[in-house]
Amino acid sequence: MADLSVEVCGLKFRNPILPAAGPPVRDGAAMLACAEGGAGALVAKTISVRAAQPPEPNMAEIPHGMVNTELWSELPPEQWLEHEYALARTAGLPLIVSLGYTGEEVGELAPRVRPFADAVELSTHYIGEDPAPMVSAVRAAKQALDVPVFVKVSPHGHDMAGAARLAQDAGADGIAAINSFGPVLALDIETGMPRLGGQNGYGWLSGPALKPLAVRCVRDIARAVDLPVIGVGGITRGTDVVEFLMAGASAVQVCTAAILRGPSVFGRLAKELDTWLDAHGHASVTEVVGSALTRGWPDGRAPVPVLDLEACNGCGICETSCVYGAIHVVEDRIALDGEQCSRCGLCVTRCRRDALIWPTPA
Ligand SMILES: Cc1cc2nc3c(=O)[nH]c(=O)nc-3n(C[C@H](O)[C@H](O)[C@H](O)COP(=O)(O)O)c2cc1C
Repeated sequence: MADLSVEVCGLKFRNPILPAAGPPVRDGAAMLACAEGGAGALVAKTISVRAAQPPEPNMAEIPHGMVNTELWSELPPEQWLEHEYALARTAGLPLIVSLGYTGEEVGELAPRVRPFADAVELSTHYIGEDPAPMVSAVRAAKQALDVPVFVKVSPHGHDMAGAARLAQDAGADGIAAINSFGPVLALDIETGMPRLGGQNGYGWLSGPALKPLAVRCVRDIARAVDLPVIGVGGITRGTDVVEFLMAGASAVQVCTAAILRGPSVFGRLAKELDTWLDAHGHASVTEVVGSALTRGWPDGRAPVPVLDLEACNGCGICETSCVYGAIHVVEDRIALDGEQCSRCGLCVTRCRRDALIWPTPA
């Protein structure tokens, strides 16, 4: 069994898999369920100076993810301060308190949450693309607090590295990336109604569809700043956790999978991560962190894939999707025509039996 524990900004997590701000941590009792389900530490639902009034309906499952327009906590900050944070702390895990949104709002809330917070995370989701309000929120939090301040970035713009640098310059201790993507629109074609309520039915995309965007943002940020990064977006399996760690994340957060599969998902992901680390000869999570930060294809060129005939069962899915006509099933095994092969790589990712692989680099 590998050592799953990690230390981020001086906080010790028993494993690197945390809940992300959202419904699975909507109050103290829900956070205790996440702790019971195996989470490495706790992150609370974002609060702001007043309770949110989200439109209804505000959550819908779609293929490969969810759309939501849930806003921040519907509980008033007083309830969090009087009851929910104290209850969450009885879990005995580090507690990261999520605050939104402007410098003024964060400045008002930060001193009040200090007795409960081992760290805070600032949501920047509803303050637009201009980084100025994010910078002022970080400064307000740093002025009021002596615990680590994480900035959670939203993929509203392309320059995640730039946003992270500004957060670092303003004093942030770490970055969480990313929040949900959008605005997006999902329709019910039987009724023509938007899946979500609100003025125009817009929402935010989360879940597996978001993962490649999140991994890209995590690697961009990890390359740009000298701060720990917490990766968030589309994690459903232990191997997704590995991918984020390799991209430079020191820990990860999970929201959609915890909504759809319940709080026991944290323990299951930790177990899957452990299995992967063992199978690949890693004694700890930290051995993997950042291991893909500098990897890339030399000159953007790839070789022709290698075929393992023993592994091939001739199922033919590679033949169907080889748009270059380089693959043919012959007598229940595939034949690969290297002349026709464009080295696009699709077959390598489609084969369920690893019968098509890239040659080991020299
Ligand atoms: C229903 C819902 C509510 C959310 N509420 C918050 C929130 O209050 N604060 C926040 O920072 N992120 C919020 N998020 C974003 C998640 O924390 C997370 O960044 C995003 O969903 C991507 O991770 P996932 O694919 O694991 O869900 C919410 C996401 C969902 C689906």
